[in-house]
Amino acid sequence: MVQRSPRVTISFFRHGEISRDVAQRAVEELPRAVDPGGVLAGENGRREHFVRRSHMHKEFRFLMSTSQRERWLVRSEKRSWRCRPIVADALPFHAGLPGYTPTPLVEVPALANELGVGRVFVKDESERLGLPAFKILGVSWAVYRAISARSQGDISPTIEGIRDAIAGWPPVELVTASDGNHGRALARMATMIGLTSHVFVPESLPTRVIAAIGDEGATVTRIGGSYDAAVRLAADRAEASPDRMLIQDTAWPGYEEIPLWTVEGYSTLFYEADAQLRDAGVGSIDLVAVPTGVGSLLQSAIAHYRRNSLNPTPSVLSVEPESAACVLASVRNGALTSIPTGETIMAGLNCGRPSTIAWPSIEHGLDAAVAVSDEEARQAMTDLHALGVLAGPCGAASLAGVRAMLTLPDRRAALAIDSRSVLLLIGTEGIASGAA
Ligand SMILES: Cc1ncc(COP(=O)(O)O)c(C=O)c1O
Repeated sequence: MVQRSPRVTISFFRHGEISRDVAQRAVEELPRAVDPGGVLAGENGRREHFVRRSHMHKEFRFLMSTSQRERWLVRSEKRSWRCRPIVADALPFHAGLPGYTPTPLVEVPALANELGVGRVFVKDESERLGLPAFKILGVSWAVYRAISARSQGDISPTIEGIRDAIAGWPPVELVTASDGNHGRALARMATMIGLTSHVFVPESLPTRVIAAIGDEGATVTRIGGSYDAAVRLAADRAEASPDRMLIQDTAWPGYEEIPLWTVEGYSTLFYEADAQLRDAGVGSIDLVAVPTGVGSLLQSAIAHYRRNSLNPTPSVLSVEPESAACVLASVRNGALTSIPTGETIMAGLNCGRPSTIAWPSIEHGLDAAVAVSDEEARQAMTDLHALGVLAGPCGAASLAGVRAMLTLPDRRAALAIDSRSVLLLIGTEGIASGAA
């Protein structure tokens, strides 16, 4: 990472964002660098963030121009953008899967009190189709659609229908990269339909998460790099044989169909939430907070809450880890932007590049974005547990994000949230995901 040149460059420094982890790593690297007084510049060449070593005081001082403002943004005008909805075909498919039941929508009055709003609901995905995260919604629908497409015919939208369709096929391996939940869901789905799976995971993934993916029947390859590097390796493996299918939840030019089906699959949770909110007497919500990695779940949320039949529409708030805020960086830059990632307890959100098919909706329809620290996510997790919602770190990020936005008057005002507002927090994973 550190080039030992008179002007030391740390490539993981970047415009507008710096996490405590990254700063800590810089401190650890610096004593080994040749130029002790050197400036560590951002990869864009600007010296916004830098660490200077002071020989005189035998200490490091962190001098960062990153203001708090740069951790968030609001673009109110994006709330008026409209798009076609995602067709709700995935919901009846999911409803036919073994063990299906809508995940709970939990009202948490204590949070409404704390945040000074009318009502707060958590869509609690800590147990979805027997797994501790929402991801099986996208995987199952994408696998069904991919197998239908390969079969070149209509197949019944059930596990038996998929099994029948592949009965005459040579053995096919489902391949993916994952920072936990997606890979485990793919492994579960592959086993259910009688196929093998191979999951590439980043170096930083905790051993227990890797073991959970293996326990579902997958071959797991831990690579010596990030999630984004794992995605490239999985794509290479799938491309090397026609008997391998890449089931990835992020898109890039030329690989878009399966990620789009994944996004469609996620729509089930939003359709369920609509019905549950109606049952709770809520006509419309004012803000939905979405934990965000590559932005596929966010894409699904934007398609849902910016659909042309919906009026009024809520604020859609993306919540990312400080050390992997690629959507925030992209929105700020006005272009899809890759960033290097660090470590975070929010493993499922540890992605450095947004999905290319998510980007247009994000650019046009996302009105708010915030980055949160591990400490904020940890605190949110502790508080949710005390309130009876057993969210994991990614799931708790929603609460950390709304806290970061609503407890400071300028941010709250920018979002036009008041004492009557209704908030929906997407709690995307439970503690059993093992990432905590
Ligand atoms: C628990 C959890 N929450 C949120 C996300 C974010 O979804 P996306 O990568 O589509 O933005 C993920 C992705 O893996 C996840 O595992």
